[in-house]
Amino acid sequence: MSFKVPVKEKNGTMKANRKRVICQDHESRHALIMANAGSLLTSAVLLAEKAFPHHGAVNCYDHSIFVAEKSLLLAQKLRLKIDARSLIRGALLHDLYLYDWHIPDPEHPHRLHGFFHPARALRNAAQHFELNALEKDIIRKHMFPLTIIPPVCRESWLVCVADTICAVQEWARSAHVRGVPR
Ligand SMILES: [Fe+2]
Ligand SMILES: [Fe+2]
Repeated sequence: MSFKVPVKEKNGTMKANRKRVICQDHESRHALIMANAGSLLTSAVLLAEKAFPHHGAVNCYDHSIFVAEKSLLLAQKLRLKIDARSLIRGALLHDLYLYDWHIPDPEHPHRLHGFFHPARALRNAAQHFELNALEKDIIRKHMFPLTIIPPVCRESWLVCVADTICAVQEWARSAHVRGVPR
C-alpha cells in the first residue's frame, strides 16, 4: 500500500520528517511524547480535557495520551517510518472537542457526537496551536469511516486504529472495575 505524503498546504510549508521509531517500553514511549509535545500536555486547554469523561472512567486527557502511546507502539510493530512529532501532536489533540458528550445539551445536542466532534476538535486545536497538514489530517479523519473521507497519510491511519483499540480497552477496563459481566 502506498501513502500520499502531504508536502505542502496553502498557508505554509509542511514536510513529513519520517524515521523508524524504536521505543521498547512504556517509559521510552512516554519520554518521546514529552520530548515532542511536553508543552502541549501542560497547556491549559489540554489540561481542561481532564474535566471531561470519555470512555468509562477514562477522561479525554488520559485517553489522548493512551492513543499517542498506542500509535507509537503500532508504528514500531509495523516497522513504519513515521513523522513522530506530528503523530504525537495529532494524537494528543484528536479529541479536543471540550465538552462532556454524556450530558444532554438542548442548545447544542451531542447526538451525532461521533460524526461531528473531529471538526470541533480541529477548530479548537487550530485556535490554540500551529498545526501542520499531517496533524490536521490526523484530527479531522480519526473517526473514519464516520468522517467518510479516508486519511491520506500513515500517521492518520495509525491514530485512527489506535483510537479504536484504546476505546475498546478503556470501556472494557471500566466495565471490569465496575464489575459489569463481560
Ligand atoms: Fe474522537
Ligand atoms: Fe479518541
